[in-house]
Amino acid sequence: MQAQVSALPVLSRDGQRTQLIVDGQPFIMLGGEARNSSASNPEDLESVYQALDAIHANTAEIPLSWNLLEPEPGKFNFQLVDAALYGARKHNLKVVFLWFGTAKNATFSYVPDWIKSNPKTYFRAQDASGREMDAISPFCDAALNEDKRAFSAVMRHIREFDQRDHTVILMQVENETGLIRTDRDYSATATKAYDAQPPSDLLKYVELHKDGLTPVLQNAWKQSGYRTTGSWTEIFGDLAPEVFSAWSVSRYVEQVAAAGKAEYPIPYYVNVALMNTGSARPGDWPSGGATAHVIDVWKAVAKHIDIIAPDIYRVDFPQQAALYNRSDNVLFVPETGFSPYYAPYVFTVLAGMDGIGFSPFGIDHGRLADTDRSELKAKEGELTAGAVAIEENYRVLRPLLPIIARNRYRGTLFPVVLDMYRHESLAIPLGDSLTAVVHFDEKFVAETQAHRSGGIILKLAADKFIVAGEGFHINFAELRGVARDSEYLSIEEGTFVGEKWVTERVLNGDEENTTLLLRHPRILQVRLNRTLQ
Ligand code: DGJ
Repeated sequence: MQAQVSALPVLSRDGQRTQLIVDGQPFIMLGGEARNSSASNPEDLESVYQALDAIHANTAEIPLSWNLLEPEPGKFNFQLVDAALYGARKHNLKVVFLWFGTAKNATFSYVPDWIKSNPKTYFRAQDASGREMDAISPFCDAALNEDKRAFSAVMRHIREFDQRDHTVILMQVENETGLIRTDRDYSATATKAYDAQPPSDLLKYVELHKDGLTPVLQNAWKQSGYRTTGSWTEIFGDLAPEVFSAWSVSRYVEQVAAAGKAEYPIPYYVNVALMNTGSARPGDWPSGGATAHVIDVWKAVAKHIDIIAPDIYRVDFPQQAALYNRSDNVLFVPETGFSPYYAPYVFTVLAGMDGIGFSPFGIDHGRLADTDRSELKAKEGELTAGAVAIEENYRVLRPLLPIIARNRYRGTLFPVVLDMYRHESLAIPLGDSLTAVVHFDEKFVAETQAHRSGGIILKLAADKFIVAGEGFHINFAELRGVARDSEYLSIEEGTFVGEKWVTERVLNGDEENTTLLLRHPRILQVRLNRTLQ
C-alpha cells in the first residue's frame, strides 16, 4: 500500500496572522546556519548537526551550491542533498536549504564554472564605467534560464526524496542578492530598460499601496509629485537606480522561485543584506536587495517569495527587525551574529514581534581550522561564547515552543531583553494593572559584547505567568490600590511537555521571595494572589 502524502509545509495566513505549519502543527524555528563551505562533504555536515544538537536547535540552515550540484550542464549530482537530509533526519532536525545559485552575497561565486567562463552568453553586470562585475546581469536571460532549470531540478529531487517526511520546511532562493560596488547594472540591455518607462504593474502596485510604502520610497516618489509616467529617474528621482535594481533583481529571483515552486510548493524566502551604518549609497550595500528602501518593490514583483528576511548583524537589532515585521511579511531572521551580543534577541523576535524563527550564522565556528575570529574560538569539543549564550536561551525556549506558537498574536508574550540603549532595568506592562520589573544581573558592556541576559514572560491568565530565561531577577508590581508587589500563591520550577506544565520543584520558604531569581536558565510558573486589589 502506498504511504499517504500528508500536507506539505505551508505558511498559513489568517488576516494579518501567519503561521508556519509543519505536519499539521505550528512550527517555530530555533535555527543555526552552517558556514558557507560546511556542506561540501558529509563529515563537515555531521559536525554542523552535532553543533546544532549541542545548542538545542530544531532547524539546520544548509547551503546548496549550484557549482557542486551541476558541475556539467544538465548533469546533476544530488549526493550532498541526500547526505544533508539523511543526517538531519538522524539528528531529528528540520532543514532550510539555501540555494546559492546566481547570487551569493551579490556576486556569482557559486555559479558553475561553465557559466563563469562563458561571459559572452552569460553576460555580467557592468558598473557606470563599463567595467564587468563578478556578478551576472539581472538582464541575462540565458543565465536566468539555466538557474530556473537547475533550481527546478533541485526542487524536483527534494520533492521525490522528502515529500513524505517534510524534513525540508523552507527554501531560501539565492543569497543576499543585489549589486555591490555599483548602484545599478549599466550593461546595454539594462540601460535601455532604465531609460524606458517603469512597468505598469509596478506603478499600479505603488499607487495602490501609496500610504503604506516605506518612508524613503514614499518620499522619493513624492518629490516627483507621485508621477506615474516618465522614466525611472523622472518618477523616483535620486532613488531611481536602487528602485530599478530592486525591480530587475526581484524579477530575476521571482522567475527562479516560480520555477522551483512549480516542482515543490513549500514556503520560499529571500535573505537581505542590510545597509550598514556608515554606508552612504546603494552599491555600498547590495543595491536592489530588499532593503528598507525598496522592500515594497520586492513585494510588488516577487509573488512566489513568501518572506523577506533580514540578516541582522547590526547592534540596533530590534529596530532592524521591526522593519521586516509587517502585516504582509512575517518576521524570520535567517542570519545574525553567533555571539553573546545577539543571543537574547531570539526573545525579541519570538516574543516581541511574533516571529517564526531565529538562526545565528556559522554555528560550526571553532570547529573549522580557518576561523580567525579569535573571540569565538573554542578548544576542540568546547562550546564557543556564542554557542553558550544561544544554548542557554534555546534550552529554555525549546520546551516552550508549542505554547509560544499558540500565544502568538495574542499580546500575551513579552520579551525580557536588555536593550543597548537602556540601563540595567526594565518595566514591562503586562495589562490588568500589573507591571513586571526586571533587573538585569549584568550590564551591557560594549567592549566585550558580554550581553547574555534575556528571557520571556508568557501570560497564561491575569494571575498566572511563565517566566523563563537567565541573567535577571524580576518582581510583579500591582498598579491598582496601595502600592505593593504581588504576593505569590505558588512558584514552581519545571518545564512543558507539549502544552502540559510539568512541575519539577515547588519553591517556598528560603527559596521563595517577591523577587524571582533567574540567575541561571530556568522556567518558572507563578500564580499571583490578586484578590487584594
Ligand atoms: C552573510 C551571508 O549571507 C552568509 O552566507 C555569510 O557569508 C555571512 N554573511 C558571513 O558573515
